[in-house]
Amino acid sequence: MSSSPRWDRLWRGGHVATLAAGAGGYGEIRQGALAAQGRKIVWVGRERDLPAPADDLALEVVDLQGRWVTPGLVDCHTHLVFAGDRSGEFEARLRGATYEEIARSGGGIRTTMLATREASEEDLVRGASRRLAELRSEGVTTLEVKSGYGMETDTELRMLRAARRLGTDHSVHVQTSLLGAHVLPPEFEGRREAYLELIREEMIPLAVQEKLADAVDAFCDEIAFTPAECESVLLAGRRAGLALRLHADQLSDQGGATLAARLGARSADHLERTSPQGVAAMAAAGTVAVLLPGAFYFLKDDHPPPVPRFRDAGVPMAVATDMNPGSSPVSSILAVMNLGCLLLGLTPEEALRGVTLNGARALGLGGSRGSLERGKLADLAIWEIDHPRELSYWMGRNPCVGVVKAGEPTLS
Ligand code: NIG
Ligand code: FE
Repeated sequence: MSSSPRWDRLWRGGHVATLAAGAGGYGEIRQGALAAQGRKIVWVGRERDLPAPADDLALEVVDLQGRWVTPGLVDCHTHLVFAGDRSGEFEARLRGATYEEIARSGGGIRTTMLATREASEEDLVRGASRRLAELRSEGVTTLEVKSGYGMETDTELRMLRAARRLGTDHSVHVQTSLLGAHVLPPEFEGRREAYLELIREEMIPLAVQEKLADAVDAFCDEIAFTPAECESVLLAGRRAGLALRLHADQLSDQGGATLAARLGARSADHLERTSPQGVAAMAAAGTVAVLLPGAFYFLKDDHPPPVPRFRDAGVPMAVATDMNPGSSPVSSILAVMNLGCLLLGLTPEEALRGVTLNGARALGLGGSRGSLERGKLADLAIWEIDHPRELSYWMGRNPCVGVVKAGEPTLS
């Protein structure tokens, strides 16, 4: 006979959307309850099936008062750490300049590079903390942060240190990606291979040595790096033990999705111009498609990623903010879910899966986060809503009333 379960926190009196892989829909459990022991979920189900706990434990019971619990949200693609802003370029775009023209004339990512090189680690942490607070207030408990605005070793590492500090100073789990291959920095004009060598021979080894990076990323595009150049960086990252990500097929189809799939990358991101072959390669390799509706919207792109093809091929679709000052100055994951539905054709259920289980998968964290299942971390978001589809519906309204990180309430 199994002994009574042991838990020290119980959430009851509301509804649970587990978003578990096998569960249909949102994994809805009306009149559901969830119990945690320490950092982990030990029980989730209908409240009336709740077994009596071992009576020797001090049990903290949270009454949900009819609210909904979902997994803590996962923002799997952000450039949260940067200095300055690009509102001047925003005005230029409104007068007719394009993102690519601004980039080719030395602005864009290079504008943010100049500001970021001037910023101290303290400055970077301070700026990113504000944006992180905005994401946390909407239930985000896990996020990825990239470097990529230094394009010189010191600044790239400083950005990653700032990102790591966000994970220790705040109640969120932060995963980091080294994006040295964002664009070519001006001092390497005409010496592309020398810059790629710097990434491979200096940035990657130092980032790994200091344990500052979990993954390596690159921007595969006409205004950035070729597939062969990206491959050389990703292979160096892989040899150093890093996971792989790729900014792929955003402004032009460079075969980025196929490259990411062939190299075993965890995800290919953006994908506005991915070909049917790219979709098939991702499906075969199990690569997660990270959709970034904020960038699609902010750049007024008219060519959405091939969502119906991803859906039909069974490619897991994640959704993320891409929070950055140039193409997606959006620190609202709920707004991005709404844009994903209206502009990319996701269902509200796909949007929520995109910021929970599939977001966690893009980070290689699908085993411990992203759904409410026994054995996973008790990362929870609590919502004042009548149905989980509302998370993609309201605009400018934040129904998040509580956040729990690894069993500990951090916002209530
Ligand atoms: O994910 N596509 C490339 N990189 C970023 C944009 C960065 C910027 O413009 O500052 C992105 O959209
Ligand atoms: Fe990005």
